[in-house]
Amino acid sequence: MDRLTDEKIISDVKENNELVTVISEYVNLKQRGKTFMGLCPFHSEKTPSFTVSREKQLFHCFGCGAGGDVLTFVMRMENLTFGPALRFLAERAGIPLPEVQLSPNMQKRKAERERLYQLNAFAADYYRKVLWGTQTGEKAAAYLETRGISRAAAEKFRLGYAPPQWAALVGLFRKKEIALGEAEKAGLVCGGGEGFYDRFRDRLLFPITNARGQIVGFGGRLLGDGQPKYLNSPETAVFQKGDSLYGLFQAREGIRRRERVIVMEGYMDVIQAHQQGLDEVVASLGTALTTEQVKLLKRYTDQVYIAYDADAAGEAATIRGLDLLAAVGVNVRVVRLPSGEDPDSLLKKEGVEAFQRFVDESVDLFTFKLAYILEQEEIATPDGKARAVQRVFPILSQVKNQIMREAYLKQTATAVGVSETTIYDEWRIYSYNSRKNKQRLDIKNNQRHTNDITYQQQPGILPAEKNLLQLERQLLRGCLQEKDFFTRIKQALKEIKFSAPLYTELLHQLVEWDVSGEWPPPATAFPPETRALYIELLTENTMNPLPVDVEGCLKRLEQHQIAEEIRRLQREVAVSLDLQASAPTPALDLQNKLALLNKLHKKLREDFPTFSGLR
Ligand code: UTP
Ligand code: MN
Repeated sequence: MDRLTDEKIISDVKENNELVTVISEYVNLKQRGKTFMGLCPFHSEKTPSFTVSREKQLFHCFGCGAGGDVLTFVMRMENLTFGPALRFLAERAGIPLPEVQLSPNMQKRKAERERLYQLNAFAADYYRKVLWGTQTGEKAAAYLETRGISRAAAEKFRLGYAPPQWAALVGLFRKKEIALGEAEKAGLVCGGGEGFYDRFRDRLLFPITNARGQIVGFGGRLLGDGQPKYLNSPETAVFQKGDSLYGLFQAREGIRRRERVIVMEGYMDVIQAHQQGLDEVVASLGTALTTEQVKLLKRYTDQVYIAYDADAAGEAATIRGLDLLAAVGVNVRVVRLPSGEDPDSLLKKEGVEAFQRFVDESVDLFTFKLAYILEQEEIATPDGKARAVQRVFPILSQVKNQIMREAYLKQTATAVGVSETTIYDEWRIYSYNSRKNKQRLDIKNNQRHTNDITYQQQPGILPAEKNLLQLERQLLRGCLQEKDFFTRIKQALKEIKFSAPLYTELLHQLVEWDVSGEWPPPATAFPPETRALYIELLTENTMNPLPVDVEGCLKRLEQHQIAEEIRRLQREVAVSLDLQASAPTPALDLQNKLALLNKLHKKLREDFPTFSGLR
């Protein structure tokens, strides 16, 4: 692809992928005047700082600084490099692309994945036909009827029936001349050699799709009792159990519309719920929520209801899953079902209104955990009361909001049956002790990480590494704002260096760009490695056009550099002292170093009177 067509394709792709529409497929956006706001998909937050401008076709997060155009967005969101992201969006808009870009290895892997989707779709189609169109399928259709699943609901989820024969699908693959080795990779057949046989036999089949609706695997249920009740696809190149959420593809619309998701446990729960009009329902496939599932959910909403079978809700693994959700800033509520019921049975018996009442009575995560502790402790006894309170405190210490913590303390007091003053006193003792323990730990860690030079142990010598990167980023932004800024920064940076290699690289490339031309340079002037960063910085400037305080940033960067140099010298001095102790060597070297150290200290104090780290 030469540069010109490259440009043309990029602008074609961008014009045909409207940014707000694309981002809405991942983030729940709300319009605020001219811009759209939502929770940033690139960092954890509870209040939206992620903005999208339809007019400018740019996004920017005021929280973490991520930003750019539709291509940058897809690169980060789908974890793609520039070429594949372009292809992704071209496909989305139906724009044909010349076959290039993908490395041979990636091309091969992609083709393999595509093949597995194809085979799965082929199998699902076959199983669906067996279910609705054959005599063998009748007993499965009858079973669905006894479970109260309508044909429409079953079709929506593409249910099928695997006949009892050992080689039904195998035979079909043979007839179609599809290599059975491939079908094995898809987890559809087992055995190998001459002994291939169908993995799923005499089971009702639930195709599991990814968020794009491609079938990644299957769950198969026995029509009666027996073990295992459900047989799932093995892990394949496109299926890892903890990565998928059953029903997400069908629920995407509903989740967006109702601004919440209800997570249940099983296939049947999801289908029954959708059938009854609860179309914001997905299932975690019988396991506690994994990090992958949590990330996936958070792309769609920050309001998650958990409606697990009564017996499973209290399990430690379940609670860890809920903590994962809360940790990424999702608001978690737990729906408590009557014991012995799951959503499917409840919906079937009592209907959607009854279920909705349980949703209305859902509790927040703290209340849920408190209730769980109270069930386990004998709170009628003084002993039990004390134990329950001590189990609540670690949970409370995770609650950072003071007002909420106070409310929870009161709630605990009432629930356990102790006075508020008592519980406040106990809490103060608990948090005092845990602070002290933490300090002890911190001091221990510090001692481990620093050497014996006294002033290194004083706090505040170096601002955190994160600040340094922010500083460097600011300077790069400044470079793009004004040509004069760039000239000044370029000059200063001969003596001061960036710490981040990518930043340094971008700066070099800026320096190489002909300054007499357009400023800032067009994004296409940069190779893929730096282009995303470059676009991100441009976006940040567009969304936040205040001029960067270049002089201030340079000064602080210099301060960092000197502090770093002091550190290095301190280490060298320490080594020299050690050497001297063991075998006296000429002290000249050491003296030089000490002199330099003094000089640097002095400079630091003169140049940065506000600098408090050294005395
Ligand atoms: P349940 O045992 O609660 O099944 O497991 P269910 O969904 O209520 O199914 P029915 O109503 O008896 O037909 C919940 C989920 O755990 C997974 C399945 O995803 C199931 O839907 N599971 C359960 C398995 O993968 N394998 C099993 O053997 C059992
Ligand atoms: Mn169940």
